[in-house]
Amino acid sequence: MADVAHLTARFLHVGAALLWVGYLAFLAWAVIPAARHGGAHGANVGPIVERIRPFTFLGPLVLAFGLWLVTASGHAYGELLQPGWGHAITGGIVLSIAMMGLEHGLVAPRLRDAHTGPTEEREDHLAKASTGAQVAAVLGLLAAFLMVLALLGGL
Ligand code: HEM
Repeated sequence: MADVAHLTARFLHVGAALLWVGYLAFLAWAVIPAARHGGAHGANVGPIVERIRPFTFLGPLVLAFGLWLVTASGHAYGELLQPGWGHAITGGIVLSIAMMGLEHGLVAPRLRDAHTGPTEEREDHLAKASTGAQVAAVLGLLAAFLMVLALLGGL
């Protein structure tokens, strides 16, 4: 029974993490650059603001499934403070929180401002939203690297 819980937690955690980092990268290097094409009068950002909302739930899901995976893989939460496996996973938690901060504190508000604010400020808002999504995607790759280190025994 424990193995079923482990496999399920692993599948949900890795699945949500793949979608999260993939979505951030696609936003940063495809969707926002496409919206910027054409300068101040580029594509309407309104539909983008609407469509990305469901994806902002992926961060909390990765964190929740990750915390479940800690116990499902036979570890105790106290181990998160210990060197090796614990520090690698804790590093991933810190990176995930920073990613959510960028998503909610920079990317989403700047996209909203690009949609609702004055036309001459649009380019500046989109540039900052793009940078925020790029940094978040790179932090996500770093988190994945730390997770693999954890699997291999830690830092
Ligand atoms: C963007 C953030 C994250 C990414 C991309 C990510 C990705 C991964 C990947 C690829 C694995 C290896 C899967 C496997 O083969 O079993 C993994 C394992 C794991 N992750 Fe994450 N993860 C992230 C955040 C988190 C967070 C926030 C937690 C919270 C506790 C967490 C906890 C774990 C645990 C406990 C394992 C299992 C390690 C082991 O079996 O030794 N991860 N993660």
